[in-house]
Amino acid sequence: MNLRRLKRQGVLGINARNLLYTQRWNARRGLPNVDDKLATRELCQAAGVAMPAVLAVARTHREARALPERLREHETFVVKPARGAMGNGILVLERREGELLRRGAPLEEAALAYHAASIVSGLYSLAGHADAALIEERLRAHPTFAELVPDGVPDVRVVVYRGVPVTAMTRLPTAASGGRANLHQGAIGVGIDLASGHTTHATFRDRPVRRHPDSDAILRDVALPEFETILRVAVGATDQTGLGYVGADVVVDAARGPVILELNARPGLAVQLANRAGLLPRLRAVDELLAEGDIPDAEERIALGRRIASEHAR
Ligand SMILES: Nc1ncnc2c1ncn2[C@@H]1O[C@H](COP(=O)(O)OP(=O)(O)O)[C@@H](O)[C@H]1O
Ligand SMILES: [Mg+2]
Repeated sequence: MNLRRLKRQGVLGINARNLLYTQRWNARRGLPNVDDKLATRELCQAAGVAMPAVLAVARTHREARALPERLREHETFVVKPARGAMGNGILVLERREGELLRRGAPLEEAALAYHAASIVSGLYSLAGHADAALIEERLRAHPTFAELVPDGVPDVRVVVYRGVPVTAMTRLPTAASGGRANLHQGAIGVGIDLASGHTTHATFRDRPVRRHPDSDAILRDVALPEFETILRVAVGATDQTGLGYVGADVVVDAARGPVILELNARPGLAVQLANRAGLLPRLRAVDELLAEGDIPDAEERIALGRRIASEHAR
């Protein structure tokens, strides 16, 4: 699959995305709803859309210092910047015999407090603004996903345009990505056929791959669990934001099922490579269909998106 062929297939580039989609459909006043994970949580909570539980929040250096003690009763948890991106500043921690471990290596409580203080100082936030350290319940990969990856929690990125899901991929952590499902860190992107909920092609660092490099699992034609619900929570959360072009990240937790991990107002374009299909024809089809009249309800929009994706699968 080369770039020229993708272009002929209506690939969306960064300039067109900004000009025609994100700037046009994502009003500035809606951006704080997604750029801050605590704000997203409030919206989702109000709408009854599941997100990981929050165990603690530190907004000041004093609260950062107090964190280790507050977290002593928790066996495992995740520390992240509320306004972070691309997996930066995220720690997944667990306890063994009272001691904190990060990816198997001991982490002193003082180092945890220091990390939280760095988050509060804005080390990982956009433009270096002061931030909050968010301590979340640790999610666990649903068995179908756990079979694909030896370590870390995969997610499903769904692009929702004007309330219609138009494309999706699952992102699989690798040893290189340090267990995080971020393509920038070296996670694998696997396209998803929206109609069936089965995986299609996989790409690792923008190149096609057949198997996961760590687990050796074949990545094609995997039936994803609870795919209907994945689309429903993605659309349900997006509906709360007032934004028209959103990347919704959904994790299928082993115990809780699909939950929203975060929303993104500037979703990346690599989803096209993973699906070997450009976005433009799908976005145009949505515009045409929505021009016809009333705004359909969420279930109708999901059905519409699945139909459009099948009609523009190549
Ligand atoms: N609560 C959690 N439990 C387990 N893994 C998580 C959790 N939160 C994040 N991760 C891992 O870290 C990755 C990045 O987290 P995310 O919240 O999307 O932050 P970012 O905005 O930096 O992408 C996720 O894709 C997932 O692999
Ligand atoms: Mg993310």
